[in-house]
Amino acid sequence: MKIPTNMTMAYHDGDIDTNTSANPHLNDLIAVRYSRRQTLMGGLSAATAAVFGGMLLAGCDEDDPRRAVTVQAGASGATSAGKTVTLTGTVASGSATGVAWAQTGGPAVTLANANTATATFTAPSVAADTTLTFTFTGTSTDGIRSETSTSVTVSPARLDFTAVPKSLADVVSVPTGYSVTVLYRLGDPIASGVGAYANDGSDTNFARRAGDHHDGMSYFGLAATGSTPDANGNTRGLLVLNHENITQAYLHPNGATSTGGAIGAGGVRPESEALKEMECHGVSVIEISRSATAWSYVPASALNRRITPLTPMSFSGPVRGNALLRTRYSTDGTAGRGTINNCANGTMPWHTYLTNEENWAGYFRRQFGDVAARGGSTAKQNVSLARYGIRETANATTFNGNYGWASVVPADAANTLYARWNVTTTAATDATGDFRNEAFQYGWVVEIDPFDPASTPRKRTALGRMNHEGCEIGRTIAGVKPAFYMGDDAQNEYIYKFVSATPWSAADATATNRLAIGDKYLDSGTLYVAKLNADGSGQWLPLVFGQGPLTSANTTYPFADQADVLINARLAGDVLGATKMDRPEWTAVNPATGEMYCTLTNNSSRTAANVDASNPRAYTDPKTTGGQTTGNANGHVIRLRETGDTSEATAFTWDIYAFGAGSDLDATNINLSGLDATNDFSSPDGLWFGLPSNPTGNVTPVMWIETDDGAYTDVTNCMLLAAIPGRVGDGGTRAVTSTLGGTSNTVTTRIGKAPATTLRRFLVGPKECEITGIHSTPDGRSLFVNIQHPGENGGPTNITSSWPANQAGAVATPSRPRSSTIVITKNDGGIIGL
Ligand code: FEO
Ligand code: CA
Ligand code: CA
Repeated sequence: MKIPTNMTMAYHDGDIDTNTSANPHLNDLIAVRYSRRQTLMGGLSAATAAVFGGMLLAGCDEDDPRRAVTVQAGASGATSAGKTVTLTGTVASGSATGVAWAQTGGPAVTLANANTATATFTAPSVAADTTLTFTFTGTSTDGIRSETSTSVTVSPARLDFTAVPKSLADVVSVPTGYSVTVLYRLGDPIASGVGAYANDGSDTNFARRAGDHHDGMSYFGLAATGSTPDANGNTRGLLVLNHENITQAYLHPNGATSTGGAIGAGGVRPESEALKEMECHGVSVIEISRSATAWSYVPASALNRRITPLTPMSFSGPVRGNALLRTRYSTDGTAGRGTINNCANGTMPWHTYLTNEENWAGYFRRQFGDVAARGGSTAKQNVSLARYGIRETANATTFNGNYGWASVVPADAANTLYARWNVTTTAATDATGDFRNEAFQYGWVVEIDPFDPASTPRKRTALGRMNHEGCEIGRTIAGVKPAFYMGDDAQNEYIYKFVSATPWSAADATATNRLAIGDKYLDSGTLYVAKLNADGSGQWLPLVFGQGPLTSANTTYPFADQADVLINARLAGDVLGATKMDRPEWTAVNPATGEMYCTLTNNSSRTAANVDASNPRAYTDPKTTGGQTTGNANGHVIRLRETGDTSEATAFTWDIYAFGAGSDLDATNINLSGLDATNDFSSPDGLWFGLPSNPTGNVTPVMWIETDDGAYTDVTNCMLLAAIPGRVGDGGTRAVTSTLGGTSNTVTTRIGKAPATTLRRFLVGPKECEITGIHSTPDGRSLFVNIQHPGENGGPTNITSSWPANQAGAVATPSRPRSSTIVITKNDGGIIGL
């Protein structure tokens, strides 16, 4: 409470009316008093964003023997959704026993410190300018209430930061008024007794350290103490993030080694190096907390966990126990060992995390002769393995998988951790004698309960097998079956959705057996693949055995049953006639509209001859440094609206939210969205909407776009942009002419309205990085972002980035780069982006 020190009123005896309710008498009194006072003490002070008060109003009439106080607020004002508004009242004269702010009109807001002179609230999300009214009252020692009012007009949310310029600097840049904290770096210890990271290649025990290549990420609020979820927890939480891959060279003192040949040519890897590289993959669960000054992770938290390619897994859903999952490790096909190349994620409303296996195929060795051992090139298993990119080598020793793990000769001859990367048929008996089926154990969506470190992750086979980028759930509406949207990231692959068999029940969000809730929604339902038509319509085609061409009579691939369809989702999509897309990456659902967005990052194999309405560009993007990128060099972001706005729909309409392009490229056929220096981007990948628990996820939500680029990197490092998108159909049609390789071809696409200032660059990362992984606290005031593989083109003797060691300033000597999670906060404590 703010009590002026220069109060001048003295005590008078007399009849005291103790009716302190607001009434005509008091109002009359105030009106009289106001006319007498031309100036009043006190005033407004600027705080975090917008500060408003009302006109003065005063109590105490000279004809009334009682003492009242004089209260004032200030002028009415205007702000936009998401801003922190400070209401400052003043007791200009008199002795007050209490003051209070109260809302009298407009959408209800929560007033913090309402019983003091300075109350604050967050401007609510609105679709159009909306006025909120408030009163400030002061009660005198004689019990008289004096009251004044003020109003605040709130306009719809808008991006309120200055765009960050494109940059090639080796640092994370954010807008003025924002700060970056490096939170969790490659090698950081997550258990007591694990030493600090030396970062010279000597470190071991990555099962108790942060892994490499931070990717998809979710924040889960934790209760103030203990290990239970708190959906509103803004200061203590679990951060769960993927470690997609490794920058191998930096993990060892002098880079990776092998004996008897190069790693890619049959060389044998040391067991210790291979173990370290495997453990650098997977997922981290770490406890984090915010003190008065900054976020940090809790190195010795009992909730910390690393999940790696060694962690036991359980199979769930229709493929569990299938013959194709049986291996020497899992002879009944119900268990698995680990997860790998975990790219994007999914945040389930029942507080579990989905991690998705993307480029898993490259880790496997498949020796020459295996095709014959499986019955020749037309045998079903060979058709399947080929469709997923697991081809046999030209001879027995040329390739041991990406990092040569299959070559390791372990100290313990019974240890199959390395042999499991060899999918060559070797046993004379069935698949339980070798690891010929190990590749079928990957390519799944995996559900993790981060609140139970002892829980076994479940591979959710009902969602199909592919190069899973992410898996995000759409809106959950009681009584409606929820949908889960997924991209299969490879050139010319498809967009999928899974619709649960079970309608949503809100009570499931707080259930304590979280993986059982996962069983309920993720183990049975219908998987669909998208077909996008030139007229802007589209269909979800069901991957259901026995329907359409998905039968044993199919000549491309005779499907045996539903498990066979799910294991071979790509083949099912092929025969159903799904639309080949320009590398479907992340999906994100607008929490206000339910519309689904999907990044199509780029496609170097898109040609002028095969462009179509939903993938309409093939062109040349020249580099200032020489060379060029061709095809759909810069990618685009597509979006679709389900028919009837329901997740259960089997049809939709689509358009393209924005096309990536350098602002220097042809505005007629390439830079179709009219991007300029403030928002031009290339290769959209990460995609995420603000949470509905704060104004970045309501009415006009903020969408975040992260890039993983190789085409525009002559001009800028990868970046994060913020957008407030419109709706499917807010633009129109556009004829686009692709010219490439001597061919010219025109198609008509559907394009959203030009983003203009509703799309803006928020962050640029350090050298050679990808920006990926993004989530926030429920209040939207702490934004977590991952910086993946800075300096990835260098090595121990050629360090090309010293980030994050140099985030606080230049370092004297180069420091090996480390993939890291950062936290972005606004210096005034406000909501990020608004
Ligand atoms: Fe791991 Fe498709 O990005
Ligand atoms: Ca990605
Ligand atoms: Ca990518």
